Order: sequence, then structure tokens, then C-alpha cells
Amino acid sequence: MLLENMSYVEVEAYLVEKDIILIPIGSVEQHSPYGLLGTDFITAEAIAREVGKRMNILVAPTITYGMSQHHAGFKGTVTLSPLTLVSLVKDIVNSLIQQGFRRIVFINGHGGNINSVKIAFEQLKYENKHGIFEIISWFLLPEIQEMEKDIFEDKNGLHATPSEVSITKFLRSEAFETKPKEKKKVEKPNGYFPLSKEEFKKLYPDGRIESAPWLAKEKYGKLILEEAVRVIMERIKEISKKKIL
Ligand code: NI
Repeated sequence: MLLENMSYVEVEAYLVEKDIILIPIGSVEQHSPYGLLGTDFITAEAIAREVGKRMNILVAPTITYGMSQHHAGFKGTVTLSPLTLVSLVKDIVNSLIQQGFRRIVFINGHGGNINSVKIAFEQLKYENKHGIFEIISWFLLPEIQEMEKDIFEDKNGLHATPSEVSITKFLRSEAFETKPKEKKKVEKPNGYFPLSKEEFKKLYPDGRIESAPWLAKEKYGKLILEEAVRVIMERIKEISKKKIL
């Protein structure tokens, strides 16, 4: 159920039955030497598309770029400013609600996006736009965090996590042939957020945040992806039951 593969006639027919659409959102940012620059959008897209397939729900094209200013000191990172992301999300949601979509659910793979997406939602409500606007960050789901603790104990960390790296390894194993395998120390500096790109590099010189991405395995990725899909399907069922005011 990909929006990009439909005609407007098919979208008209969909809107007679349903008013929900999923929008995957991620980032293009460093994920340490072990992980892919596309990690956050690759994970969010795979989860959203699987949920869409199983529930017959439309999935919009992925917003690949996100708010990654703190990672911009590392090569390959491409960031939007926080306010650009607010505008981008606002314009996309506005387009969809003008056409009759009323439940607009962002499936998010990157923590840095959350504040901007929520400000966009608040601004849309300030402008009196009707509908349910939600962001579900798969990595913040309690069920996922419990699973990560079972598998990786205290080494999942907060960025370039073995959890997200496992999912991308499961989806794109060939991209890992050139990535390092050796273990490093897992440091836990007493940091703070937000951080500028210079501050980030001082605190986390190889890009990891308290994580051991070398623990990533395809089989874990398959498990975590399946659990994220299962839990998000439950959330979507709840959102679908709500009355639009
Ligand atoms: Ni990530």
C-alpha cells in the first residue's frame, strides 16, 4: 500500500473507506564506523511498510532527511535545521488533511526529529486543523526497550545502537561487508542534550553514544523488527478507533 505506486483515482477510493496514512521519517546521519548513514530512515521505512502491508494502510514516501545538527561534525551527515523540519512536516500534513486524510501517523526512527515534529503538530492545531496527528518512535516503545535489554543488556546505549544496526544488517547485509568488527570500550560520559556538533564530538569521538554496535546480528534485527511491527499495529488499531472531532 505505497502512496507512490497509486493513482489519484485509487487514493480517492481509499479515502472512501479510510482516513489514515503512515509517514516514515528518519535521518541521514553518522551511526559510528559500524552503522549505516541511512540507519534511521531504513529502519522506520521497513517497519512502516510492513505495518501498512499487513493492515492495508497507505504509506507515504519516506522523509529520509531529519534534524541531525549534532551529528554534522561527521562526514556524510546531512541535516535539516529544526525549523526547516517543522515547516516540512507542516506542509506535508497540510497537503494530506486538505485531501481528507484525518489520521496522520509518523513512524519515526530518529530521536532528533521528535521536538520538531511535535511543534509542527502544535502549530497545525493552533491553525485549527482537524485530525489526529501522531508520532510513534519505534525505539522508544517499552516493549522494544525490554527486548533490547534482554538481548544487549546495558550495551544498547542511545545512538548507533546494536538494536538499530541489527535491523539494518537484517535488511541490507551486503552493506556490512566493509564495516569493522572489532570491539571497543563502552564509555558512559555524563553528557547532556542538546549538543552542538563540536560538543558532540568531544563527548562521543567515534559517534557512538554508550552503545556496542558490534553486537548487532541479523537474527536480532529480524526479531526486533517483528516486535516493532506487532506493537505498532496495536497502536494503530487504537488510533483507528478514536473519534475525529
Ligand atoms: Ni539511529
